[in-house]
Amino acid sequence: MKLKNKVAVVTGGNSGIGFGIAEALKNEGAIGAITGRNQATLDNAVNELGEGFIGIKGDVTNLDDLENVYKVTAGKFGKIDTLVVNAGGIVDGQPMMGISDVTEENYDLYMNLNLKSTYFSVKKALPYLNDGASIILIGSTAAHRAAPGMTIYAAAKAAIISLAKGLSLDLLSRRIRVNTLSPGSIDTTVFGKIVPEEHLAGLKQMWVNIIPVGRMGSPADMGKAAAFLASDDSEFIVGTELISDGGMTNISLMK
Ligand SMILES: NC(=O)c1ccc[n+]([C@@H]2O[C@H](COP(=O)([O-])OP(=O)(O)OC[C@H]3O[C@@H](n4cnc5c(N)ncnc54)[C@H](OP(=O)(O)O)[C@@H]3O)[C@@H](O)[C@H]2O)c1
Repeated sequence: MKLKNKVAVVTGGNSGIGFGIAEALKNEGAIGAITGRNQATLDNAVNELGEGFIGIKGDVTNLDDLENVYKVTAGKFGKIDTLVVNAGGIVDGQPMMGISDVTEENYDLYMNLNLKSTYFSVKKALPYLNDGASIILIGSTAAHRAAPGMTIYAAAKAAIISLAKGLSLDLLSRRIRVNTLSPGSIDTTVFGKIVPEEHLAGLKQMWVNIIPVGRMGSPADMGKAAAFLASDDSEFIVGTELISDGGMTNISLMK
């Protein structure tokens, strides 16, 4: 119980990696809030997490919604000890595309969801955070390894790795640590948003083929890493990136 009674907020905690992280924090004793835009998945996730967690509906690209999330959380539980800035990824109705197809609108939507919302998720939280809090930004190994169609998303995630450094410096006097957790290929519903059902198994196999440990990651894998970054076990880890990817970024399986 390394996070006993610590107050946590996980954005996008109603699905995938965010839910896996919320579960892991809860299992270490944390209480707090998960957020998302979909009320039905929020309700389901809160039911699964059980007592100690509430769901707060909100869009992370809307600064008033962000403010509301923190105000409600702090009003119910007290100031926040762990903030996981996880919401992001695919923009609804906007595929990731190569440069010949990207429009200015598509570019802005991806940057808003994946970079701007991350920065303001932290900024808006500041009055509601305890000194000594741990902030975990969710990056991606896409920042290190180009993949078709992912250029803008990857650039946003690369910028997040930089944010963790700059924000750690900005917040040094409050002993607030900001680190990036970069998942590799993690088995969530996100792949169903990229390809139709009939191509899903093939897409996942393609990832498994390049992951040295021979499997995709799970939301629970991300939860373990996030619980470590949230706890005092990582108190000397500041402004850095933890890659959890089964070896995919640093090890090539090419013969
Ligand atoms: N899966 C992977 O392989 C992988 C790899 C590297 C990094 N990541 C990153 O991990 C994070 C979670 O991804 P995932 O795979 O778990 O995907 P997911 O299952 O699609 O989850 C995305 C989450 O973000 C929330 N969200 C999306 N847009 C939002 C918005 N505008 N406002 C508020 N919440 C929003 C969604 O909830 P609502 O729809 O209810 O709003 C959902 O909870 C993302 O930042 C993604 O870039 C994923």
